[in-house]
Amino acid sequence: MDRRAFIASVGGAAAFAAMNANQKADALEAAMAQELEQVVVKSHLFTTFGKEPQEWPRSPYGRQPLGKNQVFLMGHDPRLPLMSEKPTLAEFFEKRFTVTAHVLQSARLAKMNGLSEKTVLACLLHDISVCGFISADHGYFGAQLVAPYVDEEVSWAIKYHQALRFIPDESVGYAYPETYVRFFGEDYKPEPYIYRDAEIAKNHKWYMTARQITLNDLYSFDPNVKVELEDFADIIDRHFKQPEEGLGYDDTPSTHMWRAMIFPNKFL
Ligand SMILES: [Fe+2]
Ligand SMILES: [Fe+2]
Repeated sequence: MDRRAFIASVGGAAAFAAMNANQKADALEAAMAQELEQVVVKSHLFTTFGKEPQEWPRSPYGRQPLGKNQVFLMGHDPRLPLMSEKPTLAEFFEKRFTVTAHVLQSARLAKMNGLSEKTVLACLLHDISVCGFISADHGYFGAQLVAPYVDEEVSWAIKYHQALRFIPDESVGYAYPETYVRFFGEDYKPEPYIYRDAEIAKNHKWYMTARQITLNDLYSFDPNVKVELEDFADIIDRHFKQPEEGLGYDDTPSTHMWRAMIFPNKFL
């Protein structure tokens, strides 16, 4: 990319210098997207902060008009690895999920702790929403993503691990995570629904499955240990019903969510 053209596109050197790091990153991404033949648009949720008036049709990041021969991206984003016609869970791990070390290491720990295969699978999948779909309310979204393909206990545990992560249980040696103090600050207090759902979970027959996810939820791990998804291939085979048509191409209540991960930047 031509540096001078890029700086001119954001309004010149002074305007560029006045931007913060996030704005610079967004502007660079916008400029790179402009170089594609198809225009890639970010979700309005993340570009307007709910405040800017909507422009229609929107070009990437708001104000640049669509180029003469440009159209909005309506399929594969060429900046991402191309996915096959029948994607498996493993393919999502490989081509769409980021920072998978966390879930892999958590599943490894659960396995070493001798937990059931279903619980190991729940640990392996517990944060995949963060890895590929959406971070906010990741337990709830993660549970919906996998519900059609796993035993109900697995998706239930994934849903409720989010709330239980904030709630100590001394009887099983679970304290509020130190990492959360660092991540969210000492004064952070979860919303009421987290307390409500933790209470629901505590009184449920599958409480310990969700609790085990929190007990094996590892943020700091040995960098010398490399865990591969392959280590769980047999557990996935036995407990994750891969649809014949491929994830994103079958017809379940969460198919569209997998499809959105395949084509995350489609205009509509
Ligand atoms: Fe989580
Ligand atoms: Fe986690």
